[in-house]
Amino acid sequence: MSTSSSKKFKNPRPIYHQTGQKCSISGVGSYVPEKILTNSDLEKIVDTTDEWILSRTGISERRIAADDEYASDMATVAAKRAMEDAGVTADDIELIIVATITPDMPFPSTACLVQRNLGALRAAAFDVEAACSGFIYALEIGQQFIMSHTYETVLVIGAEKLSTIVDWTDRNTCVLFGDGAGAAILRSNGGTHGLLTACMGADGNKSELLSMPGGGSRNPATIQTVNDRLHFLRMDGREVFKNAVNAMFSASRTVLERCELDISEIKCVIPHQANQRIISAVGERLGVSSEQLFTNVEKYGNTSAASVAIALDEAAKNGNIERSDLILLLVFGAGLTWAAAVIEW
Ligand code: UT7
Repeated sequence: MSTSSSKKFKNPRPIYHQTGQKCSISGVGSYVPEKILTNSDLEKIVDTTDEWILSRTGISERRIAADDEYASDMATVAAKRAMEDAGVTADDIELIIVATITPDMPFPSTACLVQRNLGALRAAAFDVEAACSGFIYALEIGQQFIMSHTYETVLVIGAEKLSTIVDWTDRNTCVLFGDGAGAAILRSNGGTHGLLTACMGADGNKSELLSMPGGGSRNPATIQTVNDRLHFLRMDGREVFKNAVNAMFSASRTVLERCELDISEIKCVIPHQANQRIISAVGERLGVSSEQLFTNVEKYGNTSAASVAIALDEAAKNGNIERSDLILLLVFGAGLTWAAAVIEW
């Protein structure tokens, strides 16, 4: 390879080193619902204050989807915007992967509903469930299909309607989450830029720290499970916080080392937008400057699988990243799961 990137990365990831190809993100798009729920609004619902939420989380407001607006609808709008950005049509798309923990329904997959909405009838479609880490999991899966020459155009989406699984009587969790969707079009290219590497991890031993116990085969819906509020998410916030900082730091180090990159060479670091304090703690440990760090948690709260997808779109559209800039994405979520990726934009 005689590209500038091959000189920059002495130890490139074998998959594109061998093929001379990279999987590029050729378009991004996002969507957030119109309705804004502010911290002051929440003061009227639970025993909380704007001051507590802002100082402990960095969140000022979040978006809430309309009653008749579902994960697949938000995913579809984000996807159309990404397709327009990439200049691809529904006929070009060969695979749709939707990362979500709030599918429209347990089955069919939300990806199939998006396929129908888009009229992308050539595309295979499935969902990925890796909670807040879902978008990078989906990116990595999409990349594998591109690098193996199975598909040329893959649509990857993170979409959530978390407002439907949030317990609006629980002040520990209801202030944190919001709804939205983000999407990316993956395509193969000649090797000049793209997804350089990604790593994913999980620790099922800590699955109880963040979960929604009801609605699956273990606790199918009954009057009892509804009365026991098992259909809402539950979280041990303090433990999740500690694990999030450690896992996102380690995953970031792994992908930077693989690419032989120093953090100072990264133009834009886009972490999962769960809590400003988590973002700052990881940023500090990695040695990231405030100019490098992209955050929008104050506007949207934690949108789980949609979080970095929305942030990536905003960073690209706002001019925070430009062609050939290096970007670090890092995520963490229920499972526990985590992931990081380095992209040459
Ligand atoms: O997407 C990945 C998964 N999610 C996350 O990454 C979230 C990780 N965790 C966190 O972000 C933080 O742990 C929280 C924001 C959830 C909580 O912040 P914290 O600083 O860890 O607070 P805490 O849970 O230790 O609670 C401190 C106090 C408690 O009162 P006492 O026991 O000290 O009297 C809570 O009851 O704050 C109280 N509290 C609240 N007070 C006002 C908890 N929630 C609220 C609230 N308003 N909304």
